[in-house]
Amino acid sequence: MDPSDASRDHLRTLLLGMEQVWLEAECARYEFFLDVIRQSPLDVAIISLDADPQKAMQLIAQLAAEAPDLALLAVSGKNDGQAILQALRCGAREFLTAPVQLEEMLTALQRLGRNRSNGEYTSGTNGTPKESLVVAVIGSRGGVGCTSIAVNLGATLAQHPGRSVALVDLDLALGDADVALDLVADHTLADIALNIDRLDMTFLRRSLAKHATGLSLLPHPIQMEDAGLIREEHLQRVIGLLRASYTHLILDLSKSFSATDVTALRMADIILLVAQLELSSLRNVVRMLLALGAEEALAERIHVVLNRVDSEADISLRKAEETIGKRVYWQLPNDPKLLIEARNQGVPLVALAPRSKIQQSFVGLAHALNGTEDPVSKEPKSGWGKIFSRSR
Ligand SMILES: Nc1ncnc2c1ncn2[C@@H]1O[C@H](COP(=O)(O)OP(=O)(O)OP(=O)(O)O)[C@@H](O)[C@H]1O
Ligand SMILES: [Mg+2]
Repeated sequence: MDPSDASRDHLRTLLLGMEQVWLEAECARYEFFLDVIRQSPLDVAIISLDADPQKAMQLIAQLAAEAPDLALLAVSGKNDGQAILQALRCGAREFLTAPVQLEEMLTALQRLGRNRSNGEYTSGTNGTPKESLVVAVIGSRGGVGCTSIAVNLGATLAQHPGRSVALVDLDLALGDADVALDLVADHTLADIALNIDRLDMTFLRRSLAKHATGLSLLPHPIQMEDAGLIREEHLQRVIGLLRASYTHLILDLSKSFSATDVTALRMADIILLVAQLELSSLRNVVRMLLALGAEEALAERIHVVLNRVDSEADISLRKAEETIGKRVYWQLPNDPKLLIEARNQGVPLVALAPRSKIQQSFVGLAHALNGTEDPVSKEPKSGWGKIFSRSR
């Protein structure tokens, strides 16, 4: 509901670009809007205040009384605190500043549609995620297992029919998530960076390649020199948009601590810091915990994951935890034969060896991240968290 043609056009373009939205009706006169909602069963009504704030407030109050289940979203470009307060008091559930940005609209609609009943991250009935989880995977040195973890965790999470999972390869120069999934994508992060001004959900969704496991992949640029095209603000938009339309977002980071890596870390809900039970990796975990820990918000999101646990040369878990001064969140067993086969074939473990110990460990990790199991506060009975550790 917006009497101004210009701002109504803007809202229309925005809404038509969103896959999960059906635009049922448009209205240019406050007086006619009640008739519109009587004729159409709506979930959300967007009401612009600026053409006539008094009439708009009156309409919001009437709608709130007449259709209490209808979620009302007020929009104004005037940044007037009193008007915002009044709109909310009249019954609006959300307020957005005009001109409305796509991410803001998506997040507002997500909040309106949110109905978390069991704490799981799943899609709502209309395909909109009720809540999304962004997991960044970062390594304590090269070859520690980040891509293997990102790909296999992603494919495992994607097994649940209620979830939509996307993996973004942020190892911009040397990433190989596309190899691990044997996917050739039509688009990469470079195309998105080049088209950032006309980026909408349809374009973004089309840019992701879908794997048979259900996992979607946004690959790193094909040309190495194109890695430089991707700037922090591009990534902020991409992560913002993807988190509004996928239930789980996995970010496979580079080992260079670049500006894009730091942006991704800041936008993640959970940071999996991957290590192995050997000196150089553990020493870097200490250094990284110090560096990242300087930002309080980041420190509490970091979870240390030990990969390839079981080799004879391993430092003991107790000693590792003493060294890094933090409990280990998860342990994944060493299985070089299976991992090499998976990488060479480009098939995730969930398809290649669903009953293997390592895949079962990924299932456990997926549960833990979804909040259905907490390996730190709960001592695992025969759990994957402990079963693979060795003490010397
Ligand atoms: N749990 C494991 N057991 C045995 N081998 C593993 C395991 N995890 C990873 N590997 C092997 O270790 C090698 C490096 O793994 P991966 O590419 O996942 O690491 P990375 O941290 O992403 O490396 P890079 O620094 O190149 O990005 C691969 O050959 C992979 O097969
Ligand atoms: Mg990698």
